[in-house]
Amino acid sequence: DWTMAGYRQQAIDAIREQVGDAHVICGLSGGVDSSVTAILLHEAIGDQLTCVFVDHGLLRQNEATEVVKMFRDNYNIKLIAADESDLFLGELEGVSDPELKRKTIGRLFIDVFQKYANDIKDAEYLAQGTLYPDVIESVSFSGGPSVTIKSHHNVGGLPEKMGLKLVEPLRELFKDEVRALGHELGLPASFIGRHPFPGPGLAIRCPGEITREKLDILRKADAVYIDQIRKHGLYDEIWQAFVAILPVRTVGVMGDGRTYDFACALRAVTSVDGMTADYYPFSHEFLGETATRIINEVKGINRVTYDITSKPPGTIEWE
Ligand code: XMP
Repeated sequence: DWTMAGYRQQAIDAIREQVGDAHVICGLSGGVDSSVTAILLHEAIGDQLTCVFVDHGLLRQNEATEVVKMFRDNYNIKLIAADESDLFLGELEGVSDPELKRKTIGRLFIDVFQKYANDIKDAEYLAQGTLYPDVIESVSFSGGPSVTIKSHHNVGGLPEKMGLKLVEPLRELFKDEVRALGHELGLPASFIGRHPFPGPGLAIRCPGEITREKLDILRKADAVYIDQIRKHGLYDEIWQAFVAILPVRTVGVMGDGRTYDFACALRAVTSVDGMTADYYPFSHEFLGETATRIINEVKGINRVTYDITSKPPGTIEWE
């Protein structure tokens, strides 16, 4: 009989066998995948594990603080929290091509990890929360010829130059299985239920050039949107929901003045594994109320649209 408890033990044995007494570095993103990876590794090899949480300046509101707090309060895992936002945002200045954004972020992640890895004695492995859909999607699409739709920076094997071997204990699992495993490992339900968040973060929800101004506006709008979704009890029905800030300013009226601010798009989809998705059928009341709140509460946005594209032909993210 296949059980999650059985899988957990099997995964722990496999990690111990692969790693031996070497040291492992795990990039913690705060997402379910990397969190489950870290906790599983911690169970398997204890303090042979060091986690590194990199704040690339592209996280959501309060995210860095909350993730670090969750791990510090609940687990006895060695954790380095690194604020590298100046480095990432600096290198991304003037970059608007989606693939170049991913490549830049991926390259910097490797640099930053290398920097910390050098300080960790006997580090031999890098742990990643790669899932089965990541593995397939990065090599083929709809059974067609091998093409890369998006170069997910967390897939494809880190360059050998990093000098670390990979441990990917979730490589055979789908998202719902990772959540079940997280539950089995005692991760708080609020954490397990979090929507997926891409490695490149807000960079790919800010089409065109990324600026600190746009990121600040995006964070605020996203927080209002998620608050609305939670208040209406819809969070768990949705696979992923977020705001994208559009690279266009539009004219509006506020009181007796004219505004010229950014437009944004709300995105919410249902999905089982992220490979296909349908837009979420919010009520018009919900959409109207949310648009009003965002425009009233977020300085810098004066127009709200709802993205009703499914995947395919769209992708979930805007880039
Ligand atoms: P798309 O936009 O390709 O997204 O339909 C499918 C799922 O993957 C996430 N995503 C990424 N995750 N690095 C990641 O770690 C990436 O570069 C990346 N691009 C998309 C997306 O959020 C969705 O869950």
